[in-house]
Amino acid sequence: MKAIIVTDQEAGTAGMQLEERPEPEASLNDVIVQVQASGFTKDELTWPSTWMDRAGRNRSPSIPGHELAGVVTALGYGTTGLSVGQRVFGLTDWHRNGTLAEYVAVEARNLAPLPADVDFTEGAALVMPGLTAWQGLFDHGRLRSGQTVLVHGAAGVVGSMATQLARAACAYVIGTGHADGCQAALGFGAHAYVDLDNEQLQDLGGVDLVFDIFGGAIAKQSANLIRSGGTLVTIAGPTDARPDNGSTIDFVVEADRSQLREIVQRFREGRLQTNIGIRSTLDDAIATFNATHRVSGKTIIRVRH
Ligand SMILES: NC(=O)c1ccc[n+]([C@@H]2O[C@H](COP(=O)([O-])OP(=O)(O)OC[C@H]3O[C@@H](n4cnc5c(N)ncnc54)[C@H](OP(=O)(O)O)[C@@H]3O)[C@@H](O)[C@H]2O)c1
Repeated sequence: MKAIIVTDQEAGTAGMQLEERPEPEASLNDVIVQVQASGFTKDELTWPSTWMDRAGRNRSPSIPGHELAGVVTALGYGTTGLSVGQRVFGLTDWHRNGTLAEYVAVEARNLAPLPADVDFTEGAALVMPGLTAWQGLFDHGRLRSGQTVLVHGAAGVVGSMATQLARAACAYVIGTGHADGCQAALGFGAHAYVDLDNEQLQDLGGVDLVFDIFGGAIAKQSANLIRSGGTLVTIAGPTDARPDNGSTIDFVVEADRSQLREIVQRFREGRLQTNIGIRSTLDDAIATFNATHRVSGKTIIRVRH
Protein backbone atom coordinates (compact mmCIF):
# COMPACT_ATOMS: atom_id res chain seq x y z
CA MET A 1 0.00 0.00 0.00
CA LYS A 2 1.02 3.64 -0.34
CA ALA A 3 1.86 5.34 2.95
CA ILE A 4 3.70 8.36 4.28
CA ILE A 5 6.49 7.42 6.64
CA VAL A 6 8.79 9.35 8.96
CA THR A 7 12.19 8.18 10.18
CA ASP A 8 13.90 11.34 11.42
CA GLN A 9 12.40 13.33 14.27
CA GLU A 10 14.65 16.34 13.71
CA ALA A 11 13.55 16.65 10.07
CA GLY A 12 9.85 17.29 10.88
CA THR A 13 7.48 17.25 7.92
CA ALA A 14 10.43 17.82 5.54
CA GLY A 15 11.56 14.27 6.36
CA MET A 16 8.27 12.66 5.26
CA GLN A 17 8.43 10.15 2.42
CA LEU A 18 5.67 8.56 0.36
CA GLU A 19 6.52 4.87 0.04
CA GLU A 20 5.16 1.44 -0.69
CA ARG A 21 4.63 -0.34 2.67
CA PRO A 22 3.19 -3.73 3.65
CA GLU A 23 -0.52 -3.67 4.45
CA PRO A 24 -1.22 -3.89 8.21
CA GLU A 25 -2.57 -7.04 9.80
CA ALA A 26 -5.48 -7.03 12.21
CA SER A 27 -4.60 -7.90 15.82
CA LEU A 28 -7.09 -8.96 18.49
CA ASN A 29 -10.20 -6.75 18.45
CA ASP A 30 -8.86 -4.75 15.52
CA VAL A 31 -10.43 -3.82 12.24
CA ILE A 32 -8.55 -2.97 9.08
CA VAL A 33 -9.86 0.25 7.58
CA GLN A 34 -9.38 1.33 4.01
CA VAL A 35 -8.68 4.98 4.68
CA GLN A 36 -10.72 7.45 2.64
CA ALA A 37 -9.80 10.64 4.48
CA SER A 38 -7.09 11.29 7.03
CA GLY A 39 -6.25 14.07 9.46
CA PHE A 40 -2.78 14.92 10.71
CA THR A 41 -1.53 17.35 13.35
CA LYS A 42 1.98 18.73 12.76
CA ASP A 43 2.82 18.47 16.45
CA GLU A 44 2.55 14.67 16.20
CA LEU A 45 6.09 14.59 14.89
CA THR A 46 7.33 15.95 18.21
CA TRP A 47 5.38 13.46 20.32
CA PRO A 48 7.31 10.46 21.73
CA SER A 49 4.46 8.15 20.68
CA THR A 50 5.28 8.81 17.02
CA TRP A 51 8.75 7.36 17.56
CA MET A 52 8.36 4.76 20.29
CA ASP A 53 5.97 1.97 21.10
CA ARG A 54 4.37 1.64 24.54
CA ALA A 55 7.40 -0.32 25.77
CA GLY A 56 9.69 2.56 24.78
CA ARG A 57 11.21 0.79 21.77
CA ASN A 58 11.98 2.69 18.59
CA ARG A 59 9.14 2.03 16.13
CA SER A 60 10.23 4.11 13.16
CA PRO A 61 9.68 4.16 10.27
CA SER A 62 6.27 5.14 11.51
CA ILE A 63 3.18 6.29 9.66
CA PRO A 64 1.73 9.52 11.13
CA GLY A 65 -1.89 10.71 11.10
CA HIS A 66 -4.41 9.50 13.67
CA GLU A 67 -7.77 10.78 12.47
CA LEU A 68 -9.67 8.87 9.84
CA ALA A 69 -12.83 8.17 7.98
CA GLY A 70 -13.00 5.05 5.84
CA VAL A 71 -14.46 1.62 5.24
CA VAL A 72 -13.84 -1.58 7.22
CA THR A 73 -12.23 -4.26 5.06
CA ALA A 74 -11.31 -6.95 7.61
CA LEU A 75 -11.88 -7.93 11.24
CA GLY A 76 -9.32 -9.23 13.71
CA TYR A 77 -9.83 -12.19 15.99
CA GLY A 78 -12.69 -11.55 18.40
CA THR A 79 -13.70 -8.20 16.94
CA THR A 80 -17.34 -7.29 17.47
CA GLY A 81 -19.48 -4.22 16.95
CA LEU A 82 -18.35 -3.36 13.42
CA SER A 83 -18.62 -5.26 10.17
CA VAL A 84 -16.81 -5.52 6.85
CA GLY A 85 -18.05 -2.84 4.44
CA GLN A 86 -19.13 -0.48 7.22
CA ARG A 87 -18.31 3.23 7.00
CA VAL A 88 -16.47 4.35 10.12
CA PHE A 89 -14.57 7.28 11.59
CA GLY A 90 -12.42 7.75 14.64
CA LEU A 91 -9.05 8.14 16.30
CA THR A 92 -6.24 5.60 16.05
CA ASP A 93 -3.69 4.66 18.72
CA TRP A 94 -0.87 7.22 19.04
CA HIS A 95 1.69 4.42 19.41
CA ARG A 96 0.73 2.51 16.26
CA ASN A 97 1.04 3.26 12.59
CA GLY A 98 -1.52 5.84 11.55
CA THR A 99 -3.82 7.01 8.84
CA LEU A 100 -1.65 8.67 6.17
CA ALA A 101 -1.84 5.36 4.37
CA GLU A 102 -4.24 3.36 2.26
CA TYR A 103 -4.99 0.96 5.13
CA VAL A 104 -4.67 1.10 8.90
CA ALA A 105 -5.18 -1.43 11.71
CA VAL A 106 -7.12 0.06 14.61
CA GLU A 107 -9.02 -1.28 17.61
CA ALA A 108 -12.71 -1.33 16.76
CA ARG A 109 -13.58 0.44 20.01
CA ASN A 110 -11.74 3.54 18.74
CA LEU A 111 -14.22 3.93 15.89
CA ALA A 112 -17.87 4.81 15.42
CA PRO A 113 -20.16 4.25 12.45
CA LEU A 114 -20.10 7.12 9.96
CA PRO A 115 -23.62 7.75 8.68
CA ALA A 116 -24.10 7.38 4.92
CA ASP A 117 -25.00 11.05 4.46
CA VAL A 118 -21.74 12.31 5.98
CA ASP A 119 -18.87 12.78 3.56
CA PHE A 120 -15.58 11.07 4.50
CA THR A 121 -13.73 14.41 4.47
CA GLU A 122 -16.17 15.93 6.95
CA GLY A 123 -16.11 12.77 9.05
CA ALA A 124 -12.32 12.84 9.36
CA ALA A 125 -12.43 16.55 10.22
CA LEU A 126 -14.83 15.97 13.12
CA VAL A 127 -12.72 13.44 14.99
CA MET A 128 -9.84 15.12 16.82
CA PRO A 129 -11.31 18.60 17.29
CA GLY A 130 -14.71 17.18 18.19
CA LEU A 131 -13.42 14.74 20.80
CA THR A 132 -10.86 17.17 22.21
CA ALA A 133 -13.37 19.96 22.60
CA TRP A 134 -16.01 17.64 24.07
CA GLN A 135 -13.67 16.07 26.60
CA GLY A 136 -12.11 19.41 27.57
CA LEU A 137 -15.42 21.17 28.11
CA PHE A 138 -17.59 18.44 29.55
CA ASP A 139 -15.51 15.52 30.89
CA HIS A 140 -12.71 17.60 32.40
CA GLY A 141 -14.17 21.11 32.57
CA ARG A 142 -17.64 20.08 33.82
CA LEU A 143 -19.12 23.00 31.91
CA ARG A 144 -22.68 23.86 32.87
CA SER A 145 -25.35 26.06 31.37
CA GLY A 146 -24.94 29.72 32.32
CA GLN A 147 -21.23 29.50 33.05
CA THR A 148 -18.61 31.65 31.33
CA VAL A 149 -15.89 29.91 29.35
CA LEU A 150 -12.76 31.44 27.85
CA VAL A 151 -11.81 29.52 24.69
CA HIS A 152 -8.30 30.22 23.46
CA GLY A 153 -7.62 29.96 19.72
CA ALA A 154 -11.35 30.14 19.06
CA ALA A 155 -10.94 30.48 15.28
CA GLY A 156 -8.61 27.47 15.13
CA VAL A 157 -9.37 23.82 14.61
CA VAL A 158 -9.98 22.75 18.21
CA GLY A 159 -11.05 26.17 19.48
CA SER A 160 -13.78 26.55 16.87
CA MET A 161 -15.26 23.23 17.93
CA ALA A 162 -15.01 24.15 21.62
CA THR A 163 -16.71 27.46 20.87
CA GLN A 164 -19.63 25.78 19.12
CA LEU A 165 -20.10 23.09 21.77
CA ALA A 166 -19.86 25.57 24.64
CA ARG A 167 -22.38 27.88 23.00
CA ALA A 168 -24.73 24.96 22.41
CA ALA A 169 -24.40 24.11 26.11
CA CYS A 170 -25.74 27.62 26.89
CA ALA A 171 -22.45 28.95 28.21
CA TYR A 172 -21.27 32.52 27.69
CA VAL A 173 -18.29 32.10 25.36
CA ILE A 174 -15.33 34.45 25.13
CA GLY A 175 -12.99 33.50 22.29
CA THR A 176 -9.39 34.62 21.87
CA GLY A 177 -6.76 34.68 19.16
CA HIS A 178 -5.20 37.09 16.68
CA ALA A 179 -7.29 40.02 15.42
CA ASP A 180 -7.97 38.32 12.09
CA GLY A 181 -9.63 35.37 13.85
CA CYS A 182 -12.34 37.54 15.38
CA GLN A 183 -15.03 37.23 12.70
CA ALA A 184 -14.54 33.49 12.40
CA ALA A 185 -14.77 33.00 16.17
CA LEU A 186 -17.96 35.08 16.38
CA GLY A 187 -19.30 33.06 13.44
CA PHE A 188 -18.66 29.85 15.38
CA GLY A 189 -20.73 31.27 18.22
CA ALA A 190 -18.44 33.25 20.52
CA HIS A 191 -20.30 36.06 22.30
CA ALA A 192 -17.13 38.14 22.68
CA TYR A 193 -13.54 38.03 21.48
CA VAL A 194 -10.17 39.10 22.87
CA ASP A 195 -7.45 40.01 20.38
CA LEU A 196 -4.46 38.72 22.33
CA ASP A 197 -2.02 40.92 20.41
CA ASN A 198 -3.74 44.16 21.35
CA GLU A 199 -6.01 43.52 24.33
CA GLN A 200 -5.34 42.43 27.88
CA LEU A 201 -6.79 39.24 29.29
CA GLN A 202 -6.79 40.71 32.79
CA ASP A 203 -9.39 43.26 31.64
CA LEU A 204 -11.92 40.44 31.38
CA GLY A 205 -14.11 39.68 34.35
CA GLY A 206 -14.04 36.29 36.03
CA VAL A 207 -14.65 33.06 34.11
CA ASP A 208 -15.67 29.60 35.27
CA LEU A 209 -13.65 27.61 32.76
CA VAL A 210 -10.63 28.24 30.56
CA PHE A 211 -10.15 25.98 27.54
CA ASP A 212 -6.47 26.52 26.80
CA ILE A 213 -4.51 25.49 23.72
CA PHE A 214 -1.42 27.68 24.26
CA GLY A 215 0.11 26.91 27.66
CA GLY A 216 2.93 29.23 28.82
CA ALA A 217 2.25 32.81 29.83
CA ILE A 218 -1.28 32.86 28.37
CA ALA A 219 -2.30 29.88 30.49
CA LYS A 220 -0.88 31.60 33.58
CA GLN A 221 -2.70 34.87 32.90
CA SER A 222 -5.88 32.90 32.26
CA ALA A 223 -5.60 31.02 35.54
CA ASN A 224 -5.85 34.34 37.35
CA LEU A 225 -9.27 34.94 35.80
CA ILE A 226 -10.82 31.77 37.13
CA ARG A 227 -13.52 32.10 39.74
CA SER A 228 -13.51 30.02 42.89
CA GLY A 229 -14.18 26.37 42.06
CA GLY A 230 -13.42 26.87 38.36
CA THR A 231 -11.06 24.95 36.10
CA LEU A 232 -8.23 25.53 33.67
CA VAL A 233 -8.27 22.78 31.07
CA THR A 234 -5.30 22.70 28.74
CA ILE A 235 -4.35 20.60 25.73
CA ALA A 236 -0.91 22.21 25.50
CA GLY A 237 0.78 19.79 27.88
CA PRO A 238 1.74 20.02 31.55
CA THR A 239 1.60 23.53 33.00
CA ASP A 240 2.23 25.12 36.35
CA ALA A 241 -0.60 27.61 35.74
CA ARG A 242 -2.98 27.17 38.69
CA PRO A 243 -6.11 29.07 39.65
CA ASP A 244 -6.02 30.20 43.31
CA ASN A 245 -9.20 28.37 44.20
CA GLY A 246 -9.70 25.97 41.36
CA SER A 247 -8.06 23.15 39.48
CA THR A 248 -5.89 22.61 36.42
CA ILE A 249 -6.21 19.62 34.12
CA ASP A 250 -3.99 18.84 31.16
CA PHE A 251 -5.12 15.96 29.04
CA VAL A 252 -4.60 14.15 25.75
CA VAL A 253 -7.72 13.34 23.75
CA GLU A 254 -9.00 9.77 23.79
CA ALA A 255 -11.13 7.80 21.38
CA ASP A 256 -14.76 7.56 22.50
CA ARG A 257 -17.45 5.94 20.40
CA SER A 258 -20.46 7.45 22.12
CA GLN A 259 -19.00 10.95 21.89
CA LEU A 260 -18.27 10.44 18.19
CA ARG A 261 -21.89 9.36 17.66
CA GLU A 262 -23.15 12.51 19.38
CA ILE A 263 -20.72 14.76 17.50
CA VAL A 264 -21.64 13.36 14.08
CA GLN A 265 -25.34 13.56 14.90
CA ARG A 266 -25.00 17.25 15.70
CA PHE A 267 -23.11 17.73 12.44
CA ARG A 268 -25.91 16.01 10.51
CA GLU A 269 -28.50 18.23 12.15
CA GLY A 270 -26.52 21.34 11.21
CA ARG A 271 -25.70 22.12 14.85
CA LEU A 272 -21.93 21.68 14.42
CA GLN A 273 -19.60 22.73 11.61
CA THR A 274 -16.17 21.44 10.71
CA ASN A 275 -13.29 23.88 10.19
CA ILE A 276 -11.47 22.55 7.13
CA GLY A 277 -8.71 24.71 5.64
CA ILE A 278 -7.12 22.51 2.99
CA ARG A 279 -8.16 19.36 1.17
CA SER A 280 -5.29 17.48 -0.43
CA THR A 281 -4.42 13.99 -1.65
CA LEU A 282 -1.96 11.37 -0.41
CA ASP A 283 0.27 12.08 -3.42
CA ASP A 284 0.33 15.81 -2.64
CA ALA A 285 0.22 15.54 1.14
CA ILE A 286 3.93 16.04 1.82
CA ALA A 287 4.02 19.19 -0.30
CA THR A 288 0.87 20.39 1.45
CA PHE A 289 2.33 19.84 4.93
CA ASN A 290 5.53 21.65 3.92
CA ALA A 291 3.88 24.64 2.23
CA THR A 292 5.18 27.92 3.58
CA HIS A 293 1.90 29.83 3.44
CA ARG A 294 -0.33 29.18 6.42
CA VAL A 295 -4.00 28.37 5.92
CA SER A 296 -6.33 28.40 8.88
CA GLY A 297 -8.36 25.25 9.56
CA LYS A 298 -7.83 21.51 9.42
CA THR A 299 -5.89 19.89 6.61
CA ILE A 300 -7.64 16.75 5.39
CA ILE A 301 -5.93 14.28 3.10
CA ARG A 302 -8.21 12.36 0.74
CA VAL A 303 -6.44 9.03 0.49
CA ARG A 304 -8.92 7.63 -2.04
CA HIS A 305 -10.67 10.07 -4.32
N1 LIG B 1 -3.78 17.40 24.04
C1 LIG B 1 -4.55 17.03 23.04
O1 LIG B 1 -5.27 16.05 23.13
C2 LIG B 1 -4.58 17.84 21.77
C3 LIG B 1 -5.56 17.55 20.82
C4 LIG B 1 -5.62 18.34 19.67
C5 LIG B 1 -4.72 19.38 19.51
N2 LIG B 1 -3.77 19.60 20.47
C6 LIG B 1 -2.84 20.74 20.32
O2 LIG B 1 -3.62 21.92 20.48
C7 LIG B 1 -3.00 22.97 19.77
C8 LIG B 1 -4.04 23.69 18.92
O3 LIG B 1 -4.40 22.87 17.84
P1 LIG B 1 -5.33 23.43 16.68
O4 LIG B 1 -5.37 22.34 15.67
O5 LIG B 1 -6.62 23.95 17.21
O6 LIG B 1 -4.44 24.65 16.13
P2 LIG B 1 -4.86 25.81 15.14
O7 LIG B 1 -5.94 25.38 14.23
O8 LIG B 1 -3.60 26.36 14.57
O9 LIG B 1 -5.51 26.91 16.11
C9 LIG B 1 -4.77 27.83 16.86
C10 LIG B 1 -5.51 29.16 16.82
O10 LIG B 1 -4.89 30.06 17.73
C11 LIG B 1 -4.36 31.19 17.00
N3 LIG B 1 -3.06 31.51 17.59
C12 LIG B 1 -1.93 30.77 17.53
N4 LIG B 1 -0.95 31.39 18.24
C13 LIG B 1 -1.49 32.52 18.73
C14 LIG B 1 -0.98 33.56 19.56
N5 LIG B 1 0.29 33.57 20.00
N6 LIG B 1 -1.81 34.57 19.89
C15 LIG B 1 -3.08 34.58 19.46
N7 LIG B 1 -3.63 33.62 18.68
C16 LIG B 1 -2.84 32.60 18.32
C17 LIG B 1 -4.24 30.72 15.57
O11 LIG B 1 -4.30 31.84 14.72
P3 LIG B 1 -3.49 31.82 13.33
O12 LIG B 1 -4.11 30.71 12.52
O13 LIG B 1 -3.75 33.19 12.77
O14 LIG B 1 -2.07 31.57 13.70
C18 LIG B 1 -5.46 29.80 15.45
O15 LIG B 1 -6.64 30.51 15.23
C19 LIG B 1 -1.86 22.35 18.97
O16 LIG B 1 -0.65 22.58 19.68
C20 LIG B 1 -2.20 20.87 18.97
O17 LIG B 1 -1.08 20.05 18.86
C21 LIG B 1 -3.69 18.86 21.59
